Amino acid sequence: MLEDYHSRTGTSRDLYERATKVFPSGVSHNIRTFGMPTNGSYPPYIERGKDGHIWDIDGNEYIDWWMTHYSMILGHNNPHVAEAIHNRLDTGHHFGAPTEPQVKYGEAIQKAVPILKKMRFTATGSESTMYAVRLARLFTGRPLVGKALSGWHGGNDALAFHLKYPYSDDSFYNGVSFDFNSRESLDDMLKNHGNDLAAIIVEPVVGAGGGLPPEDDFLSYLREETESRDILLIFDEIVTGFRLRYGTTGYGIFGVTPDLLTLGKAAAGGMPLGVYGGREDIMALANPGAEGGRWVGGGTFSSHPLTMVAGMAVLEQLRTKVDDYARLNRMGDDFRRRLNEMLEERNAPLLGTGYGSINFISCLTHRPSDRITTPGELGRLFDHTKQDTLQALLMQEGVFGYHGLGALSFAHTEDDIERTLSGISNAVQKMP
Ligand SMILES: Cc1ncc(COP(=O)(O)O)c(C=O)c1O
Repeated sequence: MLEDYHSRTGTSRDLYERATKVFPSGVSHNIRTFGMPTNGSYPPYIERGKDGHIWDIDGNEYIDWWMTHYSMILGHNNPHVAEAIHNRLDTGHHFGAPTEPQVKYGEAIQKAVPILKKMRFTATGSESTMYAVRLARLFTGRPLVGKALSGWHGGNDALAFHLKYPYSDDSFYNGVSFDFNSRESLDDMLKNHGNDLAAIIVEPVVGAGGGLPPEDDFLSYLREETESRDILLIFDEIVTGFRLRYGTTGYGIFGVTPDLLTLGKAAAGGMPLGVYGGREDIMALANPGAEGGRWVGGGTFSSHPLTMVAGMAVLEQLRTKVDDYARLNRMGDDFRRRLNEMLEERNAPLLGTGYGSINFISCLTHRPSDRITTPGELGRLFDHTKQDTLQALLMQEGVFGYHGLGALSFAHTEDDIERTLSGISNAVQKMP
């Protein structure tokens, strides 16, 4: 099935063999096998990228939908970002001390996201969601955290539970979940655990749950229900922040204000970043020696100057793109409509989901009779083995992604869209 891919990727095969002797499954981030080993294969080893495309070490070109875990919103090797990093390298790259770029970048983020009355930088999104949850527990004095089924907020011990159907409970984690977009499921969770919940953390558009947007004012309902119980609401905008508009999505698109929020990915265009922040009274607990505080904040590589200058170069470009964001989101919406028309015509048990430039494809056990609106419903129908096969066939077609695809950048073109649709069409035809 993958003969063509295997005949062109010998160097990747050799590297993967070596990698499996060093790293579990050959990788440092589980999903970077891209499901290839399920089909007796291996991931391509990527050597370079430009705009919406990447090339592997054997010289094969791919249309990149993965875009560095959705962070490269300006496309690969953006000249302004590259120049900012190069210039900073001449001065020495990190001192573990305050620098001017940190202040400038913090001010620029605060201007774009005024809800961030105070914030802290981290090196990863996982750290920022961990600290946000810690702050919520300190502020409320309550032990539990709630999240959406399938919601991914990083690999930290506060939030790595109920990631995949059947969402088994694990006493290791002090958390409970509900199905995003289901008021009934949220009500149930609140009825059973409302008094013990410090916070509920959600993405305004649930990324790992299929890129599903809120329906029927779900976020407003969530805000009202949390507020009336003194439960803090945390929006994890690590994917959605600066991706769907200049600023955040929960407030900027759906009109809902959280108590705390997190950012990362697109805000620094591919450099390691996490941000957590929000209400002044909650963030005050991060001050060393704060009454009722505990250790909040750390990280040798937090506010790394290379990230700060890269992030600034990203924001300077993004803030001029109000109309371009609308165009990019339309491009994603049109793509998803055409994709689903094609899948329906073929009666294929696959579904395109997403919102704006975020686009996923899920392989299902069968075509659903009703529209899927919750990550729980999608999780129940999801076929992991078929998904890995689709992913491998897409790789062979020169379409690079995960969760089916990923997210578009400003550097993608209409030609990329056409080639992706034809790659998907070929891959679906070859599905066993
Ligand atoms: C919504 C969301 N939150 C948090 C994280 C964790 O960020 P990082 O991988 O930078 O630790 C991710 C990463 O995929 C994410 O998608």
